Amino acid sequence: MSEYVGEQPFAALDSALEALWQRLGRAARDRRAAWHTPVLATVGLDGTPQARVLVMREANRAGRLLRLHSDTRTGKVREIAAEPRVSLLLYDPGARLQLRLSGLARVETHGPIAERAWADANLFARRCYTAPLAPGAIADGPVSGLPPELEGREPTVEESLLGRDNFSVVLIAAERLEFLHLAVTGHRRGVFDWDGEGNRWSGLWLVP
Ligand SMILES: Cc1cc2nc3c(=O)[nH]c(=O)nc-3n(C[C@H](O)[C@H](O)[C@H](O)COP(=O)(O)O)c2cc1C
Repeated sequence: MSEYVGEQPFAALDSALEALWQRLGRAARDRRAAWHTPVLATVGLDGTPQARVLVMREANRAGRLLRLHSDTRTGKVREIAAEPRVSLLLYDPGARLQLRLSGLARVETHGPIAERAWADANLFARRCYTAPLAPGAIADGPVSGLPPELEGREPTVEESLLGRDNFSVVLIAAERLEFLHLAVTGHRRGVFDWDGEGNRWSGLWLVP
C-alpha cells in the first residue's frame, strides 16, 4: 500500500502536485510501483490512436522530463517524429489514483542522455536491442527475434554493442498533469498546466 492512500495530498493543489511528482520519481526507481509501467499513447501515422506499455526510467521534476527507452526502429519512434504530442497514462489501483500526463516527446539515439542511459543498461537489457529485424516485422513463426547465438544467455559487453544504434531514449517534456483520486469520502480531480511564461505549474480543480 502506498503512503498516499487517503485523500490528504489531494486536499490542496500544492500538495497534490508534490505527491504526483514524488510518485513519478518512485515509479522510475521502484519496479514494484504501480506507475512503473505507464501506457504511452501516440498518434498513429494514419491518425489512429496507438497505446502500449513502457517502463518509466526517470522523472525529473525540475526539467519536467520523463525518460523511457525504446528500440529506434519501432512504430512509436516514427510516430513521435511525425507528431510529438503524446500522452502517458498511469494508474495505481492501491492508491486509486489515475494520472493522465501529456506533453511533447522527442527521441534521442545519441547525445549525452542516450549515452548515459546505454551505459547504465545491464547486459540483458542491452540484448533486447540486438534483434536483426525491427520489432513488429512479420516473423515466420514464434520467435524472440534475438540473434540465435544470444538466445538464453547474457551477451558479452562487445556483443551487446550490436544493439547500440537500435537503442533510443524517449524524452517527454510534460505540459499537463491531470489526476483523479477515488475515495469514498469524495473523489478529487485536478489539472496542472505548465505556464512557460510564469515558469510554474498552474492548477485547477475539476469536477470528477
Ligand atoms: C511490461 C512491459 C514493459 C514494456 N516496456 C517497454 C519499454 O520500456 N520500451 C519499449 O519500447 N517497449 C516496451 N514494451 C513493449 C511495448 O509495449 C510495445 O509492444 C513495443 O514497444 C512495440 O510498440 P510500437 O510498435 O507501438 O512502437 C513493454 C511491454 C510490456 C508488457
